[in-house]
Parts: sequence; structure tokens; C-alpha cells
Amino acid sequence: MKRLRVAIDGPAGAGKSTIARRVAEALGLLYVDTGAMYRAITWTALQEGVDPSDAPALAGLANRVHLELRPEGEGARVWINGRDVTPFLRDPRVTRAVSAVAGVPAIRMRMTELQREWARRGGVVMDGRDIGTAVMPEAEVKVFLTASLAERAKRRVEELRRQGHACDPDQVERELAERDRADTARDVSPLVRAPDARLIDTTGRDVDSVVREILTLCRPFLRGEGE
Ligand code: CDP
Repeated sequence: MKRLRVAIDGPAGAGKSTIARRVAEALGLLYVDTGAMYRAITWTALQEGVDPSDAPALAGLANRVHLELRPEGEGARVWINGRDVTPFLRDPRVTRAVSAVAGVPAIRMRMTELQREWARRGGVVMDGRDIGTAVMPEAEVKVFLTASLAERAKRRVEELRRQGHACDPDQVERELAERDRADTARDVSPLVRAPDARLIDTTGRDVDSVVREILTLCRPFLRGEGE
């Protein structure tokens, strides 16, 4: 059984989930999308009428809900209190509120606890903002993916349109920049590149070449793991 742990961090729209999923598939590892967990708790807060800036209420929610990440095929589904909430995770209202929710220490503590269980088992590719720094600082391979703001906004507009959401490109770019600012500026586990993470700028690069670069980084750790 493979034990390799791959941590992929970076700002919104840098291509983390597409690339992490492909790396996991190529190596037969589990893909854990930690952003989906923060989105799921945010969606639940909105459903219950909890204000995303009300930290004590969010802390209560974090302790009350039962969140499960169920790996399935190449991705994962998130269940909250026995309900599959995956279809709601990319809703623009969730995207707008998620950084505030993810900045609440009690929320991070709860999510990090669940993520570390996956990390302990090993054999995972995990993507997020604080994976190489806080969740799996011991990961064998760490990558920090980035791209220019204009390119990230363009990709996000295409993704939203594919999913049937109407969107204004300028607004998408503004909201992306604002989310990066909030994720970078927060006190607990901010978005920051781990000193030992490989920086990969995906601007103008295709997914295949980035996946190949990460697989090359993984190769030395796979010797003796059945590769
Ligand atoms: O896919 P996208 O890059 O838009 O975002 P995501 O990975 O789904 O993450 C959504 C939000 O969750 C981020 O903007 C962060 O505020 C938060 N997040 C976090 O704080 N820590 C993580 N490990 C993952 C996500």
C-alpha cells in the first residue's frame, strides 16, 4: 500500500483541484479536497441562517454537525448530517462567504482534525491553503501552485459558465482577489507557501505538463512502494 503524501496549496483558481485529482489518479492515491469541507460547512451555515461573520455561532455549528468526506471515484462527496451536500458547494453564495467561515479558529480546528486522519493513513493527495504548513507539514511532496490573477479569473469564469452559472468576469476577478486577500491575511493558518514547497506557476501552462512535473517530484518516494 502506498504511503506517499502530496500537499498542494495555492490561491483560488490556480488549478489545484484539477491537478491534484489527476496526480492522485496517476499514482493510485486518494484525493482529498479540503476546500470542499470548508464549503460544506459554509453552505450549512447559510442554510441555517447563521451569519458568516458570527464566530461563536459558527463554532457552535462546527461542534454540532457531523461532516463526512466520502472518497468516490476520482473525487469525493461531502455529507453533512447524513445528507450529500456536494451539489451545492460551488454555489456563488457559498464562494462569497467561505473565506470568512474558514477564518474562524473553531472551524479550522474541527476541519484540520478530520484532514489529519486522512493524512495519518497516508496514500493521499490533499489540496487546500494550509496543507503543507499546518495539516501535513510532514508530506513528502509539497507544491505551491499559482497563476496570474487574470488567468485564474478567466479559468473560474469558464468553470462557472460550464456549470450553468451566469457571471460577470470583472466581478469574478474582484471576488477572487478579495478571497485571496482574506485567505492570506487571516491569523490562523493563512495561505502561505511552505519554505520547502515547490513553486509552480501555471500561467499559460497546460494541465498535463504541470501534472508531469509533480509526478517527477513524487517518483523518488515511490521506489519501494510498488512502482
Ligand atoms: O476551488 P477554489 O480555489 O475556489 O477554493 P477551494 O479550494 O474550494 O477553497 C474555498 C475556500 O476555503 C478558500 O478560499 C479558503 O477560504 C478556504 N480553505 C481554507 O481556508 N483552507 C483549506 N485548506 C482549504 C480551503
